[in-house]
Amino acid sequence: MESTPAAWAHADAYLADLLVGHDPELEAALAAQHDAGLPAIEVAPVSGKLLHLLARISGARRVLEIGTLGGYSTIWLARAVGPEGRVVTVEAEPGNAAVARASIDAAGVGDRVDIRIGRGAEVLPTLVGGFDLVFIDADKESNTLYLDWAAKLGHPGTVVILDNIGRDGEIVREDSADSKVLGTREGLRMLGEDPRFDATALQTVGVKGWDGIAVALVV
Ligand code: DHB
Ligand code: MG
Repeated sequence: MESTPAAWAHADAYLADLLVGHDPELEAALAAQHDAGLPAIEVAPVSGKLLHLLARISGARRVLEIGTLGGYSTIWLARAVGPEGRVVTVEAEPGNAAVARASIDAAGVGDRVDIRIGRGAEVLPTLVGGFDLVFIDADKESNTLYLDWAAKLGHPGTVVILDNIGRDGEIVREDSADSKVLGTREGLRMLGEDPRFDATALQTVGVKGWDGIAVALVV
């Protein structure tokens, strides 16, 4: 096989078919997001399931998500925390939050999910800490701010996942002027240098092209 974006997407769809399968609530959330005109930049199905499994593997009961979009990853995380668990998800766009609210409720996990509308810089200082897992998937320019809050609102043992660390390999383009690339790079640098974290990063190819996630432990 030639390694092309189409081939990556094809193989990713094959894996999702085998390991994620048909999921009416998640598919309805994506349809609602599309119908509302939101961008299709949610995590891939296999990545949503990875978030879900990381939450379950770590026994997370309190999850913080930064960047709700249409609630697709929120539903994956809410399913992982169980009926007594809670997900707080921060969304800057009220329109996105309304779409997410409806989809999360329709997925039957609405009672576990608290959507906080506002920019992270305003909302995060108002939250009570103790989060066991933090998923950061919002404006890349604020990655270091979000990582700082993840450490402050977490505890030793908190799992932190940062989305979109690959960016088509642009992270190593020295002369990049793309603010998203610069923000991604700053986040990775912080994960390497800040003694509060022990971290790694994995590149991915699939339905979202060439990208990746960083996974960190708050130590
Ligand atoms: C973008 C943001 C995301 O969180 C993502 O997963 C893919 C793309 C973006 O802003 O372009
Ligand atoms: Mg993302």
